[in-house]
Amino acid sequence: MRILFAGPERLWEPYNDALPKALAAVGISADLAMDHPPSEVDWIVYAPDGPLSDFSPFTRAKGVLSLWAGVERIVSNPTLRLPLARMVDDGLRHGMVEWVLGHVLRHHLGLDAHILHQDGVWRHEPPKLAQDRPVTILGLGELGLACAGALSAVGFPVTGWSRRPKEDPRLIRTLAGLDQLQNSLEDAEIVVLLMPLTAETENLMDRRRLSWPAPGFVLLNPGRGALIDDDALLDALGSGQVGHATLDVFRTEPLPPDHPFWAHPRVTVTPHIAADTRVSTAARVIAENVRRGQAGEPLLYLVDRTAGY
Ligand code: NDP
Ligand code: OXD
Repeated sequence: MRILFAGPERLWEPYNDALPKALAAVGISADLAMDHPPSEVDWIVYAPDGPLSDFSPFTRAKGVLSLWAGVERIVSNPTLRLPLARMVDDGLRHGMVEWVLGHVLRHHLGLDAHILHQDGVWRHEPPKLAQDRPVTILGLGELGLACAGALSAVGFPVTGWSRRPKEDPRLIRTLAGLDQLQNSLEDAEIVVLLMPLTAETENLMDRRRLSWPAPGFVLLNPGRGALIDDDALLDALGSGQVGHATLDVFRTEPLPPDHPFWAHPRVTVTPHIAADTRVSTAARVIAENVRRGQAGEPLLYLVDRTAGY
C-alpha cells in the first residue's frame, strides 16, 4: 500500500519516523513517500501548507487524511471527490485547553498590571473570583467543549453556543443557532471563538455582534481570523467596547508586520500556536484511519462537505 505524505517538507522527517511505527502498531505495512505517482497512491496525508491542491490524478486513492483540524482550505476544492477526514486528537485538545486557560487567566487575574508595572505602588485591588466572570465559548466541538470543561472546572460560569443544540453538564447554558447568539453573548466578560471558518461563520463577529457582550469584554480568537470583521474589531477596541483582543489566527498568515494588530496596545498577537498538531498523537490517528479504511470500516472524523467542517 502506498501513502503519499502531502505535508510541508519540514514535517517529512518526523512523520517518516512516526507514521510507519504507528501503522505497524495497527498491523499495517505501507510505503510512505512524498513523491509517489498519483495513480498509485492509496491514501493521502494532507496539510494545507503542503504542495497538493489538485486531487484529480489520484484515481486509486481511498481518502484524504488531514493533519489539521480546520479544513476550510480544502473542503470546497472542486478536484476533491474522495472522503476527507480531519484531525481530532489529544495533542490538539491539550494544546488548545492550555492556550485558552492561560489567556483567560491572564485577563481574569489582571496579570499584566502586576508583571509589567512593578512601580512601587501598593494597589490592593484583588481580582474577582472566576465564579463571577461569565465566559462564552462560540463553538462547542472537540476543542470548544474541552476548553469549556477546563474553564468550568476552575469555576467560570461558561455559556456555550453551537450550530445544533447540545447539552453538557459542565456548562451553565448551551444555546444554538443564530437566533440565540445575542442571548449567548449578553453579559459575557470573556468570549472565546472556537468555530470553523465556513460560509456561515465568516465575519460572524461583526460590528453589531461585537456590541452584545459586556462593555470592555476580552475577545480570544484561536478559531480562524475571518470569523471577525477586523475593521469592526479595531473600532470596538477604540471605543472600549472590546477591552482586549488576544488573537492567534488571522486572515493573512503570517500576519503582515505593518498590520495594526501588532502595534495596538490592547491586542495580543500569538502566531497560530494555540494548538499545534503533535506528530506522535496525530500519527496514531492517521494510522487508525488507514486501518479502518483498509478494513472497510467507517473513517473517524469525516468532514461534512455540505456543512463545511
Ligand atoms: P469541531 O468541528 O469539532 O467543532 C466546531 C464547532 O463549531 C461545533 O460545535 C459546531 O456546531 C460549531 N459551529 C460550526 N458552524 C457553526 C455555525 N454556523 N453556527 C454556530 N456554531 C457553529 O471543530 P474543533 O473543535 O475540532 O475545531 C474548531 C476550530 O478550531 C477548527 O475548525 C479550526 O479552525 C480551529 N483550530 C485552531 C487551531 C489553532 O492552533 N489556532 C488548532 C486547531 C483548530 P455543532 O456542534 O452544532 O456542529
Ligand atoms: C488546525 C490548525 O486547524 O492548526 O489544525 O489551525
